Amino acid sequence: MPEDEPALKHFIESVTKEDLYYRYFSDINEFTHDDLANMTQIDYDREMAFVAVRCEEIIGVTRSMSDPDNTDAEFAVLVRSDLKRLGLGCQLLEKMIAYALAHGMHRLMGITMPNNRGMITLAQRLDFDIDVQIKDGIVNLILPLYTNGRQLAVCNVIRIQHLTSKHTHNLGN
Ligand SMILES: CC(C)(COP(=O)(O)OP(=O)(O)OC[C@H]1O[C@@H](n2cnc3c(N)ncnc32)[C@H](O)[C@@H]1OP(=O)(O)O)[C@@H](O)C(=O)NCCC(=O)NCCS
Repeated sequence: MPEDEPALKHFIESVTKEDLYYRYFSDINEFTHDDLANMTQIDYDREMAFVAVRCEEIIGVTRSMSDPDNTDAEFAVLVRSDLKRLGLGCQLLEKMIAYALAHGMHRLMGITMPNNRGMITLAQRLDFDIDVQIKDGIVNLILPLYTNGRQLAVCNVIRIQHLTSKHTHNLGN
């Protein structure tokens, strides 16, 4: 929501340039007010964002954007740099997987760089297929949620039950 803008700005300022590069695939110096406004105003027909919050501060964000049919969605995730490797990225992504499953999506996909060990390890842990495109210098992360009309990734739905809702909340609430 628009009132989340200051917290989002503060969060991004707490992320290293390297982590911002991994997230946005380019050097980020500063986000403008318009950039931040776009990030907090979500078109819920096709977009979703979940944030992790501690003491009123945003400490992690995951977002997704689906195709017009709401069949495939592309996600991204970013955790505050000093709070990495504590399980936050995993929890956020599990939340997004549960959301995608609940909305009948068929695939959740992400793109990262081949040297992004953290994201690739996290994706492997959550059973994503890892498709390295050496020529393009990218890694596609693909989680099939439906095959032959059957919903998959049930283990992810079970894992989501371990989430404590006070740690994450919908950006739109
Ligand atoms: C990728 C990112 C979201 C991971 O978040 P995180 O909170 O650090 O990840 P988690 O603590 O949930 O770790 C999940 C698993 O990955 C492993 N892992 C995380 N970072 C790792 C690293 N740098 N090297 C090796 N393993 C790593 C963890 O050990 C954990 O596995 P385990 O539970 O079996 O030990 C975080 O590093 C980040 O924000 N990076 C910058 C932005 C980015 O790259 N976004 C991805 C773009 S799609």
